[in-house]
Amino acid sequence: MAEVLIYETPGHAGRTVADHIAHSVDAKPQLVLGVATGSTPLPVYGALRDHVAVGIDFSQASAFALDEYVGLSPDDPRSSRAAVHREVTVPLGLSPERVHVPDGDPQHLETAGQRFEALIEAAHGVDIQLLGIGGTGHIAFNEPGSSFGSLTRVKTLTDRTRHDNARFFDALDEVPHQCITQGLGTILRARHLILMAFGPAKAQAVKAAVEGPVTSSVPASAIQLHPHVTVVLDEQAASALAYTDYYREAQSLKPVWQGL
Ligand code: GLP
Repeated sequence: MAEVLIYETPGHAGRTVADHIAHSVDAKPQLVLGVATGSTPLPVYGALRDHVAVGIDFSQASAFALDEYVGLSPDDPRSSRAAVHREVTVPLGLSPERVHVPDGDPQHLETAGQRFEALIEAAHGVDIQLLGIGGTGHIAFNEPGSSFGSLTRVKTLTDRTRHDNARFFDALDEVPHQCITQGLGTILRARHLILMAFGPAKAQAVKAAVEGPVTSSVPASAIQLHPHVTVVLDEQAASALAYTDYYREAQSLKPVWQGL
């Protein structure tokens, strides 16, 4: 069973994850961090700024993004590239040449997946991978039916995901139909997965991912195959889980030295 930690608010949860990352980069300055876009990880990035303000140094760390839309220009503020630059690279002081986002340029798609996988390999893999979860149970942009062995590749977005993400665009028809995303196989190679979810809209997807059967119909259920996963929730995202008493007991007994 995956470890599930439940906090009162996204702010509490974000600080806990940020404390863990700060501790990890202090111990290993060349930490390789897998970063997610979307709103879920923002409390983590916000709390990491406080660590940077008191001297935690990310200048030797690397970051790999999970996914990118196909066809947005790299400086389009809605692209993953721009979001990672704005929320992670600049405020945390990473070196831009060590921050990698899959290449969503339609001219380069044929080789984009392989190139991205090669970069992860050259960095000796991802140490800590942050993950959000979509309403369809997707992680990164691995929509239902994605192979558990999949690597970085082009995928078509479902209508549900395009609707969910339309809030970042002026109109639904501006949301791209395609993306390039790390595969489930790519994500499962990271050494530690931290899946976060906040709010009631995520409760059913969290339940399916954590307590449901392992199935490609719920891509996030792939986390059950990983040896080191931490699921970090607020009360609302945890509200549909069956074993909350067990998770809370385990959380209260967890020794501080264990970190996440
Ligand atoms: C997008 C991203 C995912 C993200 C998910 C949830 O589809 N590709 O990486 O986890 O949305 O987004 P949010 O955190 O905004 O709810």
